[in-house]
Amino acid sequence: MKAIGTWKMSYEAFKINSYQKRIDDFLINSIKYVEDMKDVHTVGSYSVPNDSGFLELDAAFMNGDSLMFGSVIGIRNERHPIEVAYKLSKLVHNNILCSNGANRYALENDLGNNYPDVYKEETDNSHDTCGMCALNGGSIKAAISSSGRANKHEGRVGDSPLIGSGFYADSEFCAVTSTGDGEAIARAVLAKSITDEYKICHDLQMAMNHVVDEYLRRIEDYYVSVPSFCCVGIDADGNFAACTSLDDFPFATYDDGDVKLMVCRRVDGKVTISEADEEFLKNYKGD
Ligand code: GLY
Repeated sequence: MKAIGTWKMSYEAFKINSYQKRIDDFLINSIKYVEDMKDVHTVGSYSVPNDSGFLELDAAFMNGDSLMFGSVIGIRNERHPIEVAYKLSKLVHNNILCSNGANRYALENDLGNNYPDVYKEETDNSHDTCGMCALNGGSIKAAISSSGRANKHEGRVGDSPLIGSGFYADSEFCAVTSTGDGEAIARAVLAKSITDEYKICHDLQMAMNHVVDEYLRRIEDYYVSVPSFCCVGIDADGNFAACTSLDDFPFATYDDGDVKLMVCRRVDGKVTISEADEEFLKNYKGD
C-alpha cells in the first residue's frame, strides 16, 4: 500500500496506522486519529468553531473504483465525521448530507457521537485540512476531514466536502486532495482539474504544477495576496505528487510501512520536493 497525506498530522497518523492492511481501514483510521488530535484545531473535535461558537465539520470519502463518494457538510458535534462520510459513500443516492440531515443520519446509523454542543473560543485562523489518498492493489481512494475556516460564517461550505474541489479519486488515473483556502480551491475545482490534466500529460507532478501555476496566473489581478492552498496526490503507478502556493508545505508519504515527512517548497514560482530535515523541523510551528 502507498499513501500520501497533507501536513505533519498525516505523518503521525500514518505511523500509528502502518499495521493496517486494508486501504479503507488505513485511510479511515488515519483520518480518525487526526480528528482526535488535541493539538490540531482545524480537523475534528478540537477545532475552532464557527462565528456562532459551534463546530460545523466537513468530511468526504471517495472510492476510485466505483467513483462513489460520500460527504457530510457542516455536521455538528460529531467526533468522527469521516466515519459518516465513509458510510454515505456506499449509497447510490442521498450520499451528500448537510447539517441536521447529516447529524440525523449519523444518529440513525449509530455513528452520532460523543460530543455535547460545545462553545469554544476562537484560537487561530487557519484552515489546514487533513486530506489523504491511498493506492492498494489497483484501487485508489481519497479521504478528507476539516473544520473549514476558523470563525467561518455559520453554514459556510468550504472545498473539503465538495467533490472535484477538496477531493477526487479515479483508480484508472489518480487521486488528489486539497488543503488551504477553501473558497480559492473551489474556484479552481482543484482536484478534478488536476485529474483531468493528468489524463492528458500522464505525469501527476507535472499536472499539479501546471494547474496550480495556470490558476495563480489567471487570478493574480483579482487578489490582494496570493491565496494559500496546497494539494497532494497519487497516481495509478504509485507516483506521489504535491504542490503549493505557500513557501513551504509539509506532507507525509507512506510506502509499505515506510513513513516519510516531506516538504514541498515554492521558490520564485518553482516547486521542489525534499524530505524534511532537522532545520525544517526545528523551525516548524505546527499544522
Ligand atoms: N480547506 C478547508 C476549508 O477552507 O474549508
